[in-house]
Amino acid sequence: MEPQKIYTELNRMLEEPRLRKLYRAAEAAFNEKDPIAHNWEHVRRDILHAVWIGLEEGADMGIVLPAMILHDLGYVTHSHDPRQHPLHGSRECYRFLGDWTLEEQEKISDCILKHKGKYPGFEHAEPRTLEEKVVCDADQVDKFGWVGFMQMMKVYVEYGYLMGIERYKTLAGLAEAMTHIEGVTLYTETGIRLAAERSDPDFLEISSKLSNGLSLYDDWKEPF
Ligand SMILES: [Fe+2]
Ligand SMILES: [Fe+2]
Repeated sequence: MEPQKIYTELNRMLEEPRLRKLYRAAEAAFNEKDPIAHNWEHVRRDILHAVWIGLEEGADMGIVLPAMILHDLGYVTHSHDPRQHPLHGSRECYRFLGDWTLEEQEKISDCILKHKGKYPGFEHAEPRTLEEKVVCDADQVDKFGWVGFMQMMKVYVEYGYLMGIERYKTLAGLAEAMTHIEGVTLYTETGIRLAAERSDPDFLEISSKLSNGLSLYDDWKEPF
């Protein structure tokens, strides 16, 4: 899909007053906390992915879009508990959704709860409905390609420094962690295609080259 078509479709959807209100409220909440990696810039990218995937797959964008806007809300409300951010987001989203029916709210909440799919380290249910799958894939697509590479570095900085994940503190650990891309599950044809189109750079190749480059330093053992 051409970028201009995505922008046009998204802007048309954002003409809906309740969606525009939600967008601004979520943007303000993210910018106030300003998370390192899962910030509003990341949400904006995922919104564009969601429009692209959702329109091609024929999903109900009335559910997908609010869910995408709020999918990482858990990082904002519970920054100390990143592993459970889908669960926190699925509970906290309701206060942003006063203009939506109860049925819509529950569908949106379920999309948020399941947006990690089978990603290692997260233990929430897998997406089942088309809308849940679109939200999940739109988020996973942000892990691929050169943009994904840059985002990955920000995630490592955020978790390594703020969350104290040991292997994110060394370059060798980061090189090894880069193979995480193999653990990503995609659920829609469009998501699989978009990720495949972002196969440059090859993270496994980079990981191995970095490990080779780092061996000079890591092979030295102090004699005391
Ligand atoms: Fe997330
Ligand atoms: Fe995300």
